[in-house]
Amino acid sequence: MIIPKHIAFICDGNGRWANARGLDRSQGHIAGILNIPKVLEICIKYNVNIISCYIWSTENWGRSKSEVTNLMNAIKTYGPGLADTLHKRNVRLIHSGSSENIPIDVLKVINDAIEMTKSNTQGILNLLFNYGSRAEIVEAVKKICKDKIEPRDITLPFFEKYLYTYPLPKVDLLIRSGQEYRFSNFMLWQCAFAEIFVSNKYWPDIDKGDIYKAIFNYQESKVKS
Ligand code: IPE
Ligand code: MG
Repeated sequence: MIIPKHIAFICDGNGRWANARGLDRSQGHIAGILNIPKVLEICIKYNVNIISCYIWSTENWGRSKSEVTNLMNAIKTYGPGLADTLHKRNVRLIHSGSSENIPIDVLKVINDAIEMTKSNTQGILNLLFNYGSRAEIVEAVKKICKDKIEPRDITLPFFEKYLYTYPLPKVDLLIRSGQEYRFSNFMLWQCAFAEIFVSNKYWPDIDKGDIYKAIFNYQESKVKS
């Protein structure tokens, strides 16, 4: 059986999940955060130990002030619980994204979780928060210029060392929820060879069946290629 090493999720549809239930969008964001450890658990059962979850893009700051505040509050409220769950499961949290614009108390929740879980070895949860793939690539170029690297030394493996996600392996399988067929500025470099699976379900409803189907499709396509 060919098992993907690294599955990345574009966690979309929290707002629509809430609307469909007559709830406020903020309830959808809470349900979305609470689904992350469930999905992680399922992936680990399938022997996939590296998971990336895209929960907030650099573009998302443009949402209404109340939605931004509600999401930040949800992270402050539910982030420490998520961190405890990861720690109990021996999973390490890493953050891909910029620290710029993140409220200091939210950043503390993230950094505390990173610190607490840094020696864990069972798996990795890479949280893409305040992340934008194009900005990540531009940042990498800036750092390379600052380091005064000779053009002949800039190979593909060398360039990757400057991305937020280094040293994670490339994404093997990209699962997108919310029935949208777009990349949303997500891991454009890392997903260069990824198989894509789009679910019509909203992120808080993504479960074992969806992940099974996505891995099955991945295996089918690997057998064919
Ligand atoms: C995705 O859910 C999570 C975030 C970007 C915070 P959305 O908030 O985009 O939900 P929909 O797509 O509007 O339903
Ligand atoms: Mg959306």
